[in-house]
Amino acid sequence: MAARRILVAITGGIAAYKLPELVRQLVRAGHSVRCITTEAALHFVSPLVLQSLSGKPVRSRLFDPAEEDGIDHIALADWAELMIVAPATANVLARLSYGLADDLLSTVALATKAPLLVAPAMNVNMWNHAATRTNVERLRERGVHFVGPDSGELACGWQGEGRLSDPAVIAEAAEFALRTATLEGECVLVTAGRTREPLDLVRSLTNRSSGKMGFAIAAEAACRGAEVVLVSGPVSLPTPSGVRRIDIESAEEMRSAVLRELARSTVVVKAAAVADFRPVAPSKRKIKKETLAEGEGWTLELERTPDILAEISREKGDRVVVGFAAETEDVIAAATRKLARKGCDFIVANDVSHSDSGFDVDSNRVSFVWPAGEVETLPKLSKRAVAGEILDRIEKLRGGAA
Ligand SMILES: Cc1cc2nc3c(=O)[nH]c(=O)nc-3n(C[C@H](O)[C@H](O)[C@H](O)COP(=O)(O)O)c2cc1C
Repeated sequence: MAARRILVAITGGIAAYKLPELVRQLVRAGHSVRCITTEAALHFVSPLVLQSLSGKPVRSRLFDPAEEDGIDHIALADWAELMIVAPATANVLARLSYGLADDLLSTVALATKAPLLVAPAMNVNMWNHAATRTNVERLRERGVHFVGPDSGELACGWQGEGRLSDPAVIAEAAEFALRTATLEGECVLVTAGRTREPLDLVRSLTNRSSGKMGFAIAAEAACRGAEVVLVSGPVSLPTPSGVRRIDIESAEEMRSAVLRELARSTVVVKAAAVADFRPVAPSKRKIKKETLAEGEGWTLELERTPDILAEISREKGDRVVVGFAAETEDVIAAATRKLARKGCDFIVANDVSHSDSGFDVDSNRVSFVWPAGEVETLPKLSKRAVAGEILDRIEKLRGGAA
């Protein structure tokens, strides 16, 4: 996404030690980042680290003649295109909800017209306290975006809700809050990840797809203002901000979910690695070695799974339908044949034989194969950048901005 001006405001929670990582990720994504802290935050994170990573001086005090050069706190508020408060203490949530302006952070938060993204982190009892719940509700009603907190083991020793979201998830939520609505009005249905076809009660047939490509497409489409439905196989990835997720296991379940959502979707991107075959008669219990004769193997009979992409393409109407072809040899020829068979708008072909692109990594090398025979080959890019390239082409097909 284009470089934006992001103000990261850090408060005095133990999770402040994770904030340099967020700053690093935002800078790496090309954004211009400035940091401010509360006085309490200075106990938990070094301003020198934040300054080194952001490349800009860090401010903490409102009444500091050296820092407050020409009503700088208002200049800072005006400069920001997005303000992130992370970690947000219970104290700062209360102060923001009441609109106090008694330190640098709360004053800038009140003065800025930029959207506010808040990532709370605190003890579970502080988070669940009626006072905090009311403060969060008031902020939500005012249009403040929230990310987290997550559940898990807390620094204080308690278990429960209160962990700061992962810096990557906060960075993702930041992009969502900064979205430019080039896909507004579109409903994008994305499938992602692998499917799992049972052999018996404990074993299954599956593949190596991590879901990262499909999740990147869903995240990017949501950032562009689309309504996004993500039908996902069993993967361990967080749901991107602004995305409605439906979890499925088998190809049959994926088919049902996709067909249920198809009517309202204007764009379908089938990035999932759906099993082509499944066991004909999966056992309802675990098949035990002892039930087979000594030295006897286990012969599986497989049948074809439903061809979801072909089915969608038959119902295509004026939707844009994009398929994926994950291949290990003759990638373009295989994708061209798939395109002719399925009748979608274009195919994203990727070679999954390389260890640094394709399955379960953050980058991908893809080619777009078009019905007229044209092939566009992109260099190795991050999956998020590939998602952007795919959606640029979808926007053109839908007659939009790209
Ligand atoms: C070791 C330690 C850890 C703390 N961690 C948190 C925390 O994770 N979340 C929180 O809301 N408050 C936490 N506090 C309490 C805040 O630091 C305290 O409420 C402070 O006034 C917050 O100031 P600020 O919101 O201006 O940064 C912690 C305090 C200490 C001493």
